[in-house]
Amino acid sequence: MKDDIVRILISDSRIKARVSELGREMADIYDSKSGLTIVAILNGALIFLADLMREIPLKMRISLMTVSSYPDASVESRGPKLIAGLGDEVRDRHVLLVDDILDTGNTLRFVQREILDRGPASLRTCVLLRKTAKAPSDVKADFVGFDIEDEFVVGYGLDYNNLYRNYPHIGVLRPEVY
Ligand code: IMP
Ligand code: MG
Repeated sequence: MKDDIVRILISDSRIKARVSELGREMADIYDSKSGLTIVAILNGALIFLADLMREIPLKMRISLMTVSSYPDASVESRGPKLIAGLGDEVRDRHVLLVDDILDTGNTLRFVQREILDRGPASLRTCVLLRKTAKAPSDVKADFVGFDIEDEFVVGYGLDYNNLYRNYPHIGVLRPEVY
């Protein structure tokens, strides 16, 4: 697996340090009485979610959505497709939407609408990575782990063709791989 990675962009130790900072930022913003409801987007946010939720020392509920934007082996998003959605569990809740990466913003725009349609008490969005070159102005993230250049990355939950999610760092794929 690691032979397919040409370069480590963000090491596991940098990720860990930043994730705990994000947890502290969130603990400052959310109220300890009402707590929060995390809505995470699978599969990409899987590992980020598992680490982040343990860094937020507040009462929380978790809801999972499955959204697919890259059919098969593709590095280009074809628009989000909802595989498993939300029920009424976000109504009147303070919702924190968690995703792996803000790229074109199509996925988050779509999911933010799904949540807002269900009447949450508040909605904030957290992404581990943001590709600043592409991120559109109408899709905002309130918490961002790292801003990165526009290159295709894998690891720490992010995949190519559903592979490399278990690579512990965030790395750049060797171009021959895709
Ligand atoms: P968007 O809808 O274009 O913002 O892309 C969102 C989804 O595309 C993310 O949740 C990822 O699953 C995937 N994605 C975007 N960029 C990358 C990347 O560099 N590596 C792996 N997946 C990516
Ligand atoms: Mg993905």
